[in-house]
Amino acid sequence: MLPHRQLEERLQQAVRSVLPEADLSSVLVRTCPDPRYGDYQANALMSLAKERQLNPRELAANVLAKLDLGDLCEPAEVAGAGFVNFRLRPQAVAAALAAAARGDHLFFEKTSQPRTIVLDFSSPNVAKPMHVGHIRSTILGEALARTLRLLGHRVITDNHVGDWGTQFGKLIVGWKRHLDKVGLRADPIAEMERLYLVVNTASEKDPAILEEARQELVKLQAGDETNLAIWREMQALSQTQFGTIYQRLGVKFDYTLGESFYNPRLASLVQELRVKGIARESEGALVVFFDEPPQLKKQPAIIQKRDGAYNYATTDLATLAHRLETWHPDEIIYITGGPQQLHFQQIFSTFRRWHPEAKIKLAHVWFGSILGEKGKAFKTRTGGAIRLSDLLDEAEERAYGVVSEKSPELPEAQRREIARIVGIGAVKYADLLPNRITDYVFSWDKMLALNGNTAPYLQYAYARIQSIFRKGNVEEGQRGGGQAAALALGAPQELALGKHLLNFGLVLEAVAEDYRPNFLCNYLYELAGCFTGFYENCPVLKAAEPERTSRLVLCDLTARVLKQGLEVLGIETLEQM
Ligand code: ARG
Repeated sequence: MLPHRQLEERLQQAVRSVLPEADLSSVLVRTCPDPRYGDYQANALMSLAKERQLNPRELAANVLAKLDLGDLCEPAEVAGAGFVNFRLRPQAVAAALAAAARGDHLFFEKTSQPRTIVLDFSSPNVAKPMHVGHIRSTILGEALARTLRLLGHRVITDNHVGDWGTQFGKLIVGWKRHLDKVGLRADPIAEMERLYLVVNTASEKDPAILEEARQELVKLQAGDETNLAIWREMQALSQTQFGTIYQRLGVKFDYTLGESFYNPRLASLVQELRVKGIARESEGALVVFFDEPPQLKKQPAIIQKRDGAYNYATTDLATLAHRLETWHPDEIIYITGGPQQLHFQQIFSTFRRWHPEAKIKLAHVWFGSILGEKGKAFKTRTGGAIRLSDLLDEAEERAYGVVSEKSPELPEAQRREIARIVGIGAVKYADLLPNRITDYVFSWDKMLALNGNTAPYLQYAYARIQSIFRKGNVEEGQRGGGQAAALALGAPQELALGKHLLNFGLVLEAVAEDYRPNFLCNYLYELAGCFTGFYENCPVLKAAEPERTSRLVLCDLTARVLKQGLEVLGIETLEQM
């Protein structure tokens, strides 16, 4: 068991003997925010005291009197308003590292309460290029899916592709009248985007074209074979293009149930909401009004328009119902940009009235925008929307420049492969590093820098450790696993590195809990910093035994955590850079 878990259990026992009726699930041990005060901290005693109108410092002292820390920690201290701080003994750190070296754990534990969690992310729209909002959703969603899976949850990813809607009327008119077959073969999405623009512009001037588009849409919705075939082709072409991008990003979905999948359910859903009194008629439309939350009071949701058409909200309600029936999830997480906050508040609020018995947790994990270098909208030089595929191409090209400069002696093919991993990794990391709700400024120079909080820096830290093993001819099997009992943490930098390794699992849990991969980015960056401190002060290959083995173990564990951590963020590592 990891030291902080052992601590937590012992603390819970002590609390139980002082307050037998207390809810122990809140008694948690977490990383101490300031290492000057300790390695771990528990702050639950303050709220337990408050609930019972006890003096918090007194309660903490009583609990500590019952607390048996054995040789895990130095004597614990009460601080401030009633925090309890713990400092691990070096032997306890060494024992946990030795267990990791034996392969017992990698500083995290699988959850004892696995949950079924549906993640709805990426969700681009058919016949349109994926834009930077979809890139953020894809990268964040994949990182969260991987974190939750690693922690032992049952994760189902579902790509809610926008493959239905009024835009298909105009697209079909364009397809029938203006299709450029050569252009379609060369770049299907660009051609479909062009068709839409042509018809859209024309329809603004000529109401007859607008009417034509409306009729094509009605025909499509009524199941007209020709229109359905066109629609299917547009869908297939888009899906192929999305697939290429997902492959480059290393993203896979368990399901891709687009909006159209839910069409057959919409009529009965709307009927049910009407009968239950959740939706009512207003100016010819069917509308859900909200009393709560207050921000929705003036924001009713239309679920059927006057012309009978359903919309985004209707489909999302049907989607929720389908997921509930099919997968019985404990939680659904939606990952989209900030502008959809109102939409999801409406969906969640409607759903609670519709299924008041459902215990499911619904989370809208939203994010800010990506801005161009001068803090303006992120656009191409000519002012167009940036396409994900171009962005990834440029990332690889720029990384190729960096790699070729740094390691010109490597063969071209190897430099290309390094550039792919570094370039894509840099884009992903730049997206995951900022607190997701703030906008961030996209900067090639920043994200590709070899020193700084970047993917290349972390990938380089990993590769550097591998080069230590190569230089010392230390094979995989000889990195200390067998002799790990000899672990010594004499130097302060060794102890600091060891303690930082121990926090990996707590950080993963925090990422899962707050949906914030940036915690993991910062943790890994600090880990690389601890490693540098260690490596600059403690010779490894030149050290005498038993230090040499002990330090090789520290190198190996750091490399393994870096690799696992980056993998969770969807970022690959290299043995050599
Ligand atoms: N297709 C939508 C868009 O591009 C995102 C869909 C998000 N998921 C959902 N269930 N509404 O904005």
